[in-house]
Amino acid sequence: MLIAEELAPAALDVLAYDFDVRHVDGTDRAALLGALVEADALIVRSATHVDAEAIAVAPRLKVVARAGVGLDNVDVASATAHGVMVVNAPTSNIVSAAEQAIALLLSVARNTASASAALKRGEWKRSRYTGVEVQGKIVGVVGLGRIGVLFAQRMAAFGTRLIAYDPYIQPARAAQLGVRLVGLDELLRESDFISVHLPRTPETLGLIGEKELATVKPGVRIINAARGGLVDEQALADALAEGRVAGAGLDVFVTEPATSSPLFGFDNVVVTPHLGASTGEAQDKAGLAVARSVKLALQGEFVPDA
Ligand code: NAD
Ligand code: MLT
Repeated sequence: MLIAEELAPAALDVLAYDFDVRHVDGTDRAALLGALVEADALIVRSATHVDAEAIAVAPRLKVVARAGVGLDNVDVASATAHGVMVVNAPTSNIVSAAEQAIALLLSVARNTASASAALKRGEWKRSRYTGVEVQGKIVGVVGLGRIGVLFAQRMAAFGTRLIAYDPYIQPARAAQLGVRLVGLDELLRESDFISVHLPRTPETLGLIGEKELATVKPGVRIINAARGGLVDEQALADALAEGRVAGAGLDVFVTEPATSSPLFGFDNVVVTPHLGASTGEAQDKAGLAVARSVKLALQGEFVPDA
């Protein structure tokens, strides 16, 4: 059993009881490939690339477990072709991720992070950090899936008006949530805040790029706590520089770890290092869910949805 990223202690206890648990730094490619040779199960979060090469060097591998939601760092097709099962924990961290998006949105609306940093430098600048209320504002949700719904429900309590773009959900379902489904064009044109909650796929990468940002309501604030690159980073930096976008909150980056970015230069951009799922609660749920799934998979039993 190979664990390539941090896993909740409770999950480690469950696994150590039955299996020979080994650890490797999944971002150290050579170490990962070497350790995979003997592994029959691999557990990762989002930083380890489980691509075709990684699967090919692991002849004993039976299951790859993603302790979280997004499977964009796992080559599911290649795993399937090698008879390797892929499991994830699709509901484990959705509350934490939705709360992170809201934390970013409120921080961007009220300049919390930049005002805090300034005050800690000894600068008491009240007028510089005048913000906006969210009540009465139009919030556009791009991707009304598990996290998008939790985000929308919570934003409704702030007295916002909610619209969403998601061609795969039924208008009736959106209406139940008090959300009006619209096309992407209308969402871009109307929203005061936009929050993106999409999976990263060839279709969604760069979905909000230069062309789309040219059509937004001036002064919009954009949040991305889903996946890096859904909002094109250079196009966003250009729109911020022009003042068309008034602020942004980003938890994810096209290349991670991201230790420098043109976006870091803006006072009205709040950034966090992919912390959406980084709560004790989410990590316990994700770790325990994948520990259970991996155990069942290695015992050759049916693995229900985690
Ligand atoms: P989900 O699958 O439940 O929802 C995604 C929604 O996007 C679905 O409703 C789907 O219909 C919609 N969608 C797919 N393609 C689309 C397209 N081209 N245009 C418009 N809508 C489209 O996923 P989720 O659990 O809500 O997760 C959303 C994202 O959040 C994922 O990328 C996930 O990896 C990410 N995430 C990030 C963190 C973090 O730490 N920042 C934590 C958890 C999840
Ligand atoms: C996820 O998709 O679950 C998130 O990116 C969280 C994570 O892996 O840290």
